[in-house]
Amino acid sequence: MSGGDAGAEAACFTCHGLQGEGDGRAAPRLAGLDAGYLHRQLDDYANGRREHAAMRAIVRKLGDGDRSKVSAFYAAIQPAAWPVEAGNPAGARLYDEGDPARGLPSCASCHGVGGVGDAANPPLAGQSAAYVAGQLRAWREAKRNNDPLGEMRRVSRLLSVAELAAVSRHAASFPPHPPEARATSPAARRADPRNDVSEPRQRAAGSSRRGE
Ligand code: HEC
Ligand code: HEC
Repeated sequence: MSGGDAGAEAACFTCHGLQGEGDGRAAPRLAGLDAGYLHRQLDDYANGRREHAAMRAIVRKLGDGDRSKVSAFYAAIQPAAWPVEAGNPAGARLYDEGDPARGLPSCASCHGVGGVGDAANPPLAGQSAAYVAGQLRAWREAKRNNDPLGEMRRVSRLLSVAELAAVSRHAASFPPHPPEARATSPAARRADPRNDVSEPRQRAAGSSRRGE
């Protein structure tokens, strides 16, 4: 379980997949998520702001240095393609437009069109409908209390049960987005055992090399 060696990777991969792509059900995609976001989630599982027994047990064995390394490792993996589910019009409307009449902002206003996300607002593309719905329910039931400004707690409570299901299915319909300009292929990086340590620098270099 000491982050940065093959042991920690093997442990995470058991549930989060060989490429950090998630298991398509409860265990989310980690590949390509922001390192700071990932690190904070790990801290929050440990301190209980985000309740989950399995992740809490795992994270409590990781020191702060290990959490940093494993977060940087996943942040630098180029997400593999994922299977896309069918979307639905009701979910699409909620996602893209929200419902101004009841003060429901669009999901897209924070998570981006197509769920691409950014550093502060995690991508939803590549997450399963089950995971998205599970998080929305967790916020609603105050089992996840860690969104810095409380947006997700507020938004989740404005959704009906049917809307929550529809918007979650819609989020699972987002296709893989064009690769962020990241330095090298995941395969090339995964071959190097020092990658977990070198990723933070690689990522910074990759994002400044964005070719558009
Ligand atoms: C036994 C299966 C299992 C293992 C092993 C596991 N995870 Fe998880 N992980 C989960 C599940 C399930 C969730 C979703 C929990 C929830 O609903 O909050 C999760 C959530 C996460 C999240 C939150 C992601 C997000 O988008 O908010 C992070 C980060 C994470 N895991 C990192 C790790 C790391 C790093 C390891 C290895 C040290 C690891 N996990 C090992 C099952 C696992
Ligand atoms: C005002 C901005 C904002 C809006 C609007 C918003 N979100 Fe979020 N969302 C966030 C932030 C910020 C986080 C990360 C919280 C954290 O840091 O733990 C988040 C996290 C999430 C996550 C968890 C992702 C993960 O990897 O665990 C899901 C799922 C999600 N939002 C779904 C939605 C849906 C669906 C909508 C529309 C109904 C929506 N959000 C609207 C800001 C927003």
